[in-house]
Amino acid sequence: MCGIVGVVGKAARNIILNGLTNLEYRGYDSAGIYLNDLKGHEYLTKAVGRISNLKEKLTPDEDGLVGIGHTRWATHGKPTVDNAHPHFDETKRFYLVHNGVIENYTELKDKYLQGVKFHSDTDTEVIVQLISKIARDKNLDAFTAFKEALKLVRGSYAFLLVDDQEPDHVFIAKNKSPMMLGLGDGFNIIASDAISVLDQTKTFVSLEDGDVGDITKDSYTIETIDGEKVERKPKVLDIDPNAASKGTYEHYMLKEIDEQPGVMRHISQTYLDDAGNPKVDSKIVDAVAKADRLYIFAAGTSYHAGLVGKALFEHYTGIPTEVGYASEAGYHFPMMSKNPFFIFLTQSGETADSRVVLKETNKRGIPSLTMTNVEGSTLSREATYTMLLGAGPEIAVASTKAYTAQVAVQAVLAKALGEKLGVKEAQEWNLHHDLAIAAEGIQQLVDGKEKLKEIADKYLIKSRNAFYIGRGIDHAVALEAALKLKEVSYIQTEGFAAAELKHGTISLIENGTPVIALINDPVTAELTRGNIQEVVSRGANIVTIVSKEFANSSDDIVLPEINYYMSALLTVIPTQLLAYYASRDKGLDVDKPRNLAKSVTVE
Ligand code: F6R
Repeated sequence: MCGIVGVVGKAARNIILNGLTNLEYRGYDSAGIYLNDLKGHEYLTKAVGRISNLKEKLTPDEDGLVGIGHTRWATHGKPTVDNAHPHFDETKRFYLVHNGVIENYTELKDKYLQGVKFHSDTDTEVIVQLISKIARDKNLDAFTAFKEALKLVRGSYAFLLVDDQEPDHVFIAKNKSPMMLGLGDGFNIIASDAISVLDQTKTFVSLEDGDVGDITKDSYTIETIDGEKVERKPKVLDIDPNAASKGTYEHYMLKEIDEQPGVMRHISQTYLDDAGNPKVDSKIVDAVAKADRLYIFAAGTSYHAGLVGKALFEHYTGIPTEVGYASEAGYHFPMMSKNPFFIFLTQSGETADSRVVLKETNKRGIPSLTMTNVEGSTLSREATYTMLLGAGPEIAVASTKAYTAQVAVQAVLAKALGEKLGVKEAQEWNLHHDLAIAAEGIQQLVDGKEKLKEIADKYLIKSRNAFYIGRGIDHAVALEAALKLKEVSYIQTEGFAAAELKHGTISLIENGTPVIALINDPVTAELTRGNIQEVVSRGANIVTIVSKEFANSSDDIVLPEINYYMSALLTVIPTQLLAYYASRDKGLDVDKPRNLAKSVTVE
């Protein structure tokens, strides 16, 4: 979390402010900017809250040809102006922005910085004070002092450092936190992600863990901390800068919900040929086919997509599949089968919890695949194989289209794998048809969004709590639906296996409690109707989202008919819209809910 942008060689203020605005999805507790005009003037401005507050504080003359900026998601220290980045040392010579967490900052402070005057509670300030102390004590230039300091640091970081004695350089370092170097004509840019500065350049160098660098307006040197030169080649990224704009939409979340039919078509075109045969890299299919068990690891919404993946893989390939929270598996590694294969689902490709598991996976020599929306992201680079989701940039903090893309790409892999293994269900499966039905069905559902707004206004916005219930794949979707509603509307919502309510939680149902039931599973549709009656008789306000196959005239939302194993692609859409309208009509910040960040790069 936290977003950083640095510029050297070009009027930096607006590039940094625009870049930070694009990075607000990474955190938005506070923001700050340091600018140096290379003529002896420097400006440091910080504000609590959004980038817009920072913009208001900047006076028109504050600009520079070098600058570093930061948008914060607080880890150490409350969101205050003092704790906002950039941080500086006590001599006010060095300025530093940081994304990550320094694990040994108290140790470093106690050991090396006794008597130093601190202005914040952050781990980051310890590092800038340490660099300064080393530079002074050992009479070192900034880059050498920076590298010496880094040798003492344990933790995750993407650092941008400016020394006001050599202000035409930005010094950088990366470990476990994302950082891209963008190359321009007579200027260079460093940012947490490429998309934030695509209006400036499309040529980027992906930096690796352990890289440190010295960036000027027309040069870049990348080394290891020990000073060994490393070569990092630039690559031109094929991303449409407009894909990251909101267009005429009031919120990114609604735009991204509406984009899902296109995402389904794109996945179909990318991964299936005209005859509907999977086009998945044969190396991936061969590698997964050797597995006796699949292990899917992910966090949050991606974990919920993995639960749907389990149903797909087990049905179409016959390979037992386990799904786990990456945050748990990282430190309590699951018991392994003889030939395991690991799949990482991650929209951002940067989630620290997932990365911990991947590192252990690599250490044990287990083959792995990352399914991600971000080409060149850390988990994509570090896994053995990658399958891209191709959902286009997802800017709203609450994930929508990446979820459906993850379900669809897992379906593609299940089909390819099942065919390779000769599984009848996979051979007979017309996935091409199902993805077309999904695209059309999603379109119908988003076209009918007014109905969901009415339901949200009638049952949800005044409610303190809510429930989603379902069985089978509907249970997996209920978990995702509950997460979506709670994260954007702050209504405490639980996703439940429909029949489990009666084993305890039903005591929470009272007059007017909204219970939203999902019914697609042919085996249990009737039983779930029974569970609905149990809560209705205790006063719940029931909303039903039901497949056409099992619907009756009293159901609220009728889903177009689709293969049960692909039903999550449709069932989730009304739940995304309910979350969106509940948040919007409560007057909340839909795209940036409190306390959250999109890319969670701390463990
Ligand atoms: C919720 C949401 C999060 C992410 C989770 C994992 O809407 O987006 O729960 O799914 O933080 O992120 P990725 O998929 O980037 O690994």
